[in-house]
Amino acid sequence: MERRQFIKSACVACAGMAITLPFLNGCGTPAQLIQAALNGDELQVPLTAFAEKNYVIVRSKQLEFDVFLKKESDGCYKALLMRCTHRNNPVQRTSNGFVCHEHGSRFDEQGLVLTEPAVKNLIELPTTINQSYIHIKYRLP
Ligand code: FES
Repeated sequence: MERRQFIKSACVACAGMAITLPFLNGCGTPAQLIQAALNGDELQVPLTAFAEKNYVIVRSKQLEFDVFLKKESDGCYKALLMRCTHRNNPVQRTSNGFVCHEHGSRFDEQGLVLTEPAVKNLIELPTTINQSYIHIKYRLP
């Protein structure tokens, strides 16, 4: 292959990757982001938020960290504070759990530590269901 032809085909391949990568990122089934106001020490999320998926990320302008809220197979709701237990940095959702990019701690879907330096699991916040809302108690230890 001539140099010119090689460069041409390499550019076509790069352009193809640039178009494809954003769509690959979308394969990780991103969570729906729900904005919720803090009412006392509670976040309220409508049950209708789970019409399409069994998990959402709850965000409030009044709070520093998001909450990952998942509907379990038994119908209960599990809320995990998206704050790394190593040094309190935000964790990011992955396709099978959470990662803290600060020092590399990883947690599984249930918030259990997979990779140190974090040694404590993600904090689970209490939830209750009342009529058409899920209430998340946002009390930090
Ligand atoms: S703050 Fe998360 S790994 Fe250190």
